[in-house]
Amino acid sequence: QAPLPPLTRSPSPVSNGGGWGEPIGASPQFFLGGVTMGFDREKFDEIKAAFTIDDDALRKIADDFRADMCAGLAGKEGATLRMLRSYAGLPSGKEHGSFLALDFGGTNVRAQRILLKGSGEYEVLSRVAKPLTLPGVYDYVSADATAEELFDFLAAIIDEAIDGNRETKYLLGHTFSFPSQQTNLNNAKLIVWTKEFATQGVEGKVVNDLLKEALARRGMTNVVPVAVINDTVAVLLAAAYKHEHTYIGSIYATGQNTCYYEDFADGSEPPTVINMESGGFGHLPFSKYDDILDQESEQPGAQRLEKMVSGRYLGTLYGAALADLLGADGVYPFSSIELSEIITDAHLDRHAAGAVIEAKTGMTFTAAERALLQELATAVIVRSARIVAATYVAIIQHRMGENEFENQFVAVDGSVYEKVPLVAHHLRGALDTLLLDEAVNVKIILENAGSALGAALAAAMTTRK
Ligand code: BGC
Repeated sequence: QAPLPPLTRSPSPVSNGGGWGEPIGASPQFFLGGVTMGFDREKFDEIKAAFTIDDDALRKIADDFRADMCAGLAGKEGATLRMLRSYAGLPSGKEHGSFLALDFGGTNVRAQRILLKGSGEYEVLSRVAKPLTLPGVYDYVSADATAEELFDFLAAIIDEAIDGNRETKYLLGHTFSFPSQQTNLNNAKLIVWTKEFATQGVEGKVVNDLLKEALARRGMTNVVPVAVINDTVAVLLAAAYKHEHTYIGSIYATGQNTCYYEDFADGSEPPTVINMESGGFGHLPFSKYDDILDQESEQPGAQRLEKMVSGRYLGTLYGAALADLLGADGVYPFSSIELSEIITDAHLDRHAAGAVIEAKTGMTFTAAERALLQELATAVIVRSARIVAATYVAIIQHRMGENEFENQFVAVDGSVYEKVPLVAHHLRGALDTLLLDEAVNVKIILENAGSALGAALAAAMTTRK
């Protein structure tokens, strides 16, 4: 997934000369011990430290997260995890039949017709995908767009996926990847937009009502929305359809969030998948860059974990840190793809990494400086992976309680997990560090068909006798 447009404008261009060994007109603040530098090494170390979370701090994050889970489940004041009931169980693996799946919540919207064949098997019969924003042409997720425009766009995509068919009845599962309050599997009200989405007239509304109205406007009453699930729930259902002992589903992409199967061992509620909205977790060691980014975002104070870890924000965090290092105002608008490019450069002179950074900052750097700037990018990424791992550990431990540790799968989907270098490696590493001997029992699996397959499964599960 390509990231959405940058969060903040580019800072005013800074031109304070070159880097180590190339003293071209540096401003006085960049003089250190008589050597002209592109940036101050001490300041660099300070900034890098701001993105470093050691093992003890990580353990504390896992413990605090676990405590917040309990508080959130009990609806206690002060809990930052919403712990939303999904009213979905786990699939039996025997689900059969053809269903429509709508996947809304990232950069692209997708509609698919999926044939479930049981035993974890399925076939995609048709697929349509469109971006929600086409620069200069349309933008359905900005504050200028209305609910009607957005849902008409979704209905048109579904229409394409069914080739304009108005005869066949289709049950539709809808993966809607935002915090929603549900009263049953099909009734989900958007609580608040996240990921910088801002379309008017959707917050507080029942999303499948908006969808049904749009379908009716196109005369598509043969398409019947029957289930709404979060994308994390979709990942969990899709993975559980294929592998028994999967209880945790997670998205690590434009946004970040995790769900898990809660069996309410005390019998207080029926077992269900809980959409934690873990991106909202708020008890974390924030750096000043996290605070800057938060203040500049659409919803200051909200989604504090997500703003430290997800693809929508990683590049911006780096841009904030870099602007501080280089003495510029504002935030350089890096995307997470550019961040990945910086990290990927394995050449000794870090020329490719330098080119990405130089294009944004208008400054040139020596090879040694470029290596440091790459280190900083790595620190931003590694912190993200470690925090996400700590949340998984908390959930695993919560589920385990006093019981024996169970062999299990954790299903993850998303461009950051899949494509950003070092993320999967450090996530695994942090999981091993925190889980010690039990780590061997936890397998992380990539489930990248989740959003659509999960939606089809959710629709199928409504037909269970
Ligand atoms: C949303 C979640 C979603 C996650 C991943 C977050 O911004 O609040 O509902 O699961 O993004 O798409």
